[in-house]
Amino acid sequence: MPKVMTILGIESSCDDTAAAVVRIDANGHASVLSSIVADQADLHAAFGGVVPEIAARAHAEKLDLCIEQALTEADMSMSDITGIAVTAGPGLIGGVISGVMCAKGLSLATGKPLFGVNHLAGHALTPRLTNNVPYPYLMLLVSGGHCQFLMVHGPAEFQRLGGTIDDAPGEAFDKIARLLGLSQPGGPAIEQAAKQGDPKRFKFPRPLLDRHGCDMSFSGLKTAVLRTRDKVIELGGGLTKQDQSDLAAGFQAAVIDVLAEKTRRAFRAYPTDAPRTLCVAGGVAANQSIRVELEGVSISEDAAFVAPPLALCTDNAAMIAYAASEQLGTYPDDLTLSARPRWPLDTSQPAMLGSGKKGAKA
Ligand code: KG4
Ligand code: ZN
Repeated sequence: MPKVMTILGIESSCDDTAAAVVRIDANGHASVLSSIVADQADLHAAFGGVVPEIAARAHAEKLDLCIEQALTEADMSMSDITGIAVTAGPGLIGGVISGVMCAKGLSLATGKPLFGVNHLAGHALTPRLTNNVPYPYLMLLVSGGHCQFLMVHGPAEFQRLGGTIDDAPGEAFDKIARLLGLSQPGGPAIEQAAKQGDPKRFKFPRPLLDRHGCDMSFSGLKTAVLRTRDKVIELGGGLTKQDQSDLAAGFQAAVIDVLAEKTRRAFRAYPTDAPRTLCVAGGVAANQSIRVELEGVSISEDAAFVAPPLALCTDNAAMIAYAASEQLGTYPDDLTLSARPRWPLDTSQPAMLGSGKKGAKA
């Protein structure tokens, strides 16, 4: 592969169909020429979660349109593309297959090399695309589908320090919003409601803080909020706006405490003498209170804090194209590339039980 590259990225591992064109110049500097994301929120809204079969069909319908739009916005045609990068896992199997088959077809038709990229590597390498963060760095990935701490030592060298053993935090935000009668996606709705709430009125558990290490759990917290909500309804005959806000604030405060304390613990694994950076990615990192708290932890840990722009923090294809450019050497894959619904970044660690909306995976 030449040093200067123009990579087409394709992403379809959950409920966003995405295509992007990323250019790497002779100095290794990356620029996102286009990044198209078609979300499927409307299709899944009635079901209270992502329906894998609906997601896969929608990806199959939208992928070529997204790719066409990404090429048009980048003012490119397939002949300008050096290689095709596609998420090959982990994720919902039907969605991943849709993307992989589309990328294989394009590769076969154009003769361009094919790169199968790990979706989590895409997220984990994004701070290098956006902020040129040097290795190593600590990454907290928090979304509706993921929750893990990674020490990123190199383009394909990831050390998983811990993660959720059940729900991902975004998933918990969504479920709690539903319990409280707030809108979806739940994260922004809870954040908004919490602004008017008293985080101390209800005392919710901070799960797994009594356990060593960086593993987290959010399912018991969800149950605690449910029980408290039921009690409030029983005593008051319903939920007032203030009750909603206080429950939202109490829940958010518990999540913040858990993320902050586990981040402090994750820093203990940081190699000594290396410049220290905490990076965040995932939709939950959009939460202003969570950002402020994590920024505070970074300052006390003498570390820089990097939060890529939200459009590149959440699922997108630019991160997939960029990861392929960083991970050259383990590539290209050929037409035998297959979808991997589970694909841990750090195979030295026991498999994660954590689910998130994409199911157990890493
Ligand atoms: O990264 P993302 O767009 O998609 C995947 O999960 O793959 O993350 C979406 C998740 C949703 O669960 C949403 O409720 C949560 O991120 N989220 C937030 C906020 N904005 C989005 N959670 C807390 N506070 C927010 N402001
Ligand atoms: Zn993701």
